[in-house]
Amino acid sequence: MSAQIIDGRVVAAEIREQIGRDVARFAAQSGVTPHLAAVLVGDDPASAVYVRNKQRACEKTGILSTLHRLPAETTEAELLELIATLNAAADVHGILVQLPLPSQINEQTVLDAVTPLKDVDCFHAENVGLMVQGRPRFLPCTPHGVQQLLIAAGTQVAGAHAVVLGRSEIVGKPMAMMLVQRGEAANATVTICHSLTKNLAEITCQADILIAAIGKANFVTADMVKPGAVVIDVGINRVDDKLVGDVDFESIKEVASAITPVPGGVGPMTIAMLLRNTLTAAQLR
Ligand code: GUN
Repeated sequence: MSAQIIDGRVVAAEIREQIGRDVARFAAQSGVTPHLAAVLVGDDPASAVYVRNKQRACEKTGILSTLHRLPAETTEAELLELIATLNAAADVHGILVQLPLPSQINEQTVLDAVTPLKDVDCFHAENVGLMVQGRPRFLPCTPHGVQQLLIAAGTQVAGAHAVVLGRSEIVGKPMAMMLVQRGEAANATVTICHSLTKNLAEITCQADILIAAIGKANFVTADMVKPGAVVIDVGINRVDDKLVGDVDFESIKEVASAITPVPGGVGPMTIAMLLRNTLTAAQLR
């Protein structure tokens, strides 16, 4: 048996079409075009690609996007000044600061400075708190994208044991919180594993849904997966100029019932959810 391959490109394209229709309706009613301001500091080539993909997706959906590109030696104060300007700009609805930032800049300080009403990544403590309490203003893009993939794959999440590998603020922690909420693609029993977890394979082998977000190429091997599990790979790792996920796709697709590829799985979904949040931010204005 070979697993169903969950095609994130197809699912994301359908969602983007729906967002495009919603953007057009909102613009016709309000006279406002949603506007995302992207901030890119330094010359990390991967970050430049991500930001370009996000901007392209905006264009295709009828969302205005502007890019604020700053040199690698930008100081924290200079970046905070730009954030303050964007916070105050009435025609900017969403602000995206691409991570990682250069080492002289404290990421938390910068993310805390983005006004919560424009925080389309859902990184601000206020928005994370609202999400955890089950009354979200925005949903974090990657975890929300994973939920949409689970829905598209027809996965039974309610009552399932979901194991999340990784406890990052961007994926692991919010992912686990969202899966445990009441709601669609949620109501799961959730275990979070991390680098100090003991007997990792014993836990991952109990997962009905296994979500890998640890940033280690091909870390999850077939012996760590329960036959019939749904495996979602959030990792994007560069190995010899090739992109690979956190799971060993070739062997696990013979064990799992469904699996996401890298690239073409979670990545396009993150961008689609960012577009959704940008429309939401414009509607909140
Ligand atoms: N860097 C890696 N993932 C992300 C993300 O989802 N948002 C931003 N802003 N930067 C990132």
